Amino acid sequence: MSYKSHSHAQWSSRMAFVLAAVGSSVGLGNIWKFPYMTGESGGGAFVLIYLVCIFLVGLPMLMSEWLLGRLGQKNPISTMGDITRRLKRSRAWVLIGVAGVLGAYLILSFYSVIGGWALAYIQMAVVDTFSGLDNDSVGTLFGNLLASPVELLLWHSLFMLMTIGVVVGGVAGGLERAAKTLMPTLAVLLVVLVGYAATTGAFAEGAAYLFTPDFSKLTSDGVLAALGHAFFTLSLGMGIMMAYGSYLSDDVNIGRSALIVVVMDTVIALLAGLAIFPVVFANGLDAAAGPGLIFQTLPLAFGNMAGGWLFGLLFFVLLVFAAWTSAISLLEPVVEWLEERSPLSRVGATIVAGLATWALGLATVLSFNIWGDVAPLGMFDKFAGMTIFDLLDYVTSKLLLPLTGLATVLFVGWFMGRDELRTQLNMGETAFALWRLAVRFIAPIGVVIVFVNSL
Ligand code: PHE
Ligand code: NA
Repeated sequence: MSYKSHSHAQWSSRMAFVLAAVGSSVGLGNIWKFPYMTGESGGGAFVLIYLVCIFLVGLPMLMSEWLLGRLGQKNPISTMGDITRRLKRSRAWVLIGVAGVLGAYLILSFYSVIGGWALAYIQMAVVDTFSGLDNDSVGTLFGNLLASPVELLLWHSLFMLMTIGVVVGGVAGGLERAAKTLMPTLAVLLVVLVGYAATTGAFAEGAAYLFTPDFSKLTSDGVLAALGHAFFTLSLGMGIMMAYGSYLSDDVNIGRSALIVVVMDTVIALLAGLAIFPVVFANGLDAAAGPGLIFQTLPLAFGNMAGGWLFGLLFFVLLVFAAWTSAISLLEPVVEWLEERSPLSRVGATIVAGLATWALGLATVLSFNIWGDVAPLGMFDKFAGMTIFDLLDYVTSKLLLPLTGLATVLFVGWFMGRDELRTQLNMGETAFALWRLAVRFIAPIGVVIVFVNSL
């Protein structure tokens, strides 16, 4: 992602490209957010809808973003500008790029605070805080962290500094090379945790919770949550994947690469769920505990398993790594936009964008303590009791990302020529027909239905 420095470099190989895309997609969304959303939305039915959204909307959408990027060869805003000009389409489509930059800014502001939680847990693991914990003490541990604005602020600041550091230094390439070994290690560690979960005596219960759909527990808001999370977890609807596509060489098969990224992302999320829910049920914890879910269950597992100290430390280090590579991909579009629209240099733009994100992050930090009762839109029933953090999450995952995604598939499906798409995707006749069906009908109709239902 240090692409700015070499005029318009291309990915050294398809492998490097896929790795960068996996680096952006695999993150807190898989390990922190997916399990707690599943718990809040009642389990299996949510997971099933989520999988449907991933494969019917997310996968075709990822392919669309990559092909737009490869056609435009520029940042998302200029890419949409060039393509609309060439095809004589309305300039309004450029808003897709603009909404993406805004979404990335809003998401990173709270993403960094949660990344900070993971940093705090590295420190706890180092001093062996987890051994001998019980249900109450894991809760207290997490509660104490949230209750301290100063501590949250320090960890959030450190996480933002790490992110700014990489984007300023243009050393993202090095990080991606490291990710090549770290991501598989993360997957192995999750498998170890699933192994531990199998010893808790509640593995069957946990697995059934994830994979047996009970549709009576599914609300229209749960469906919207599943759709929104499909976008969030694949880094869609923000122009990020579009930007990655602009560095893609013509011989890379978009469909196959997209399938790899989507499957990896999904496997990591499901492994996280399988590792967490058995521990939840074996210990009588609350599946609907919300954003604190993994921080209140996994330390319990680490505290009780052989070698738990080491596994706990490794896990939180790898979690921070996964979050870090995603955070970098979130800062990049904001920096690029600032660099182009202002007299700032790359370094200046990174510092300004980083500081602005850090500052907005303070609102999330305070949402968990001093502003815990502040509900800015509380006068509307729908938003009653939602803190600033809840609202940021809602506005990005449930509004911005799906709407930007809708606009993207509509543009690709209805405003671009079939032949050009066919050449770009270069895949079998049937696969292409299915993709086009998804992009023209299934994805847009699905998004609209979900929206209308949840209003
Ligand atoms: N996909 C990342 C995750 O699952 C989060 C992310 C969202 C990153 C949007 C970039 C853009 O954690
Ligand atoms: Na993800």
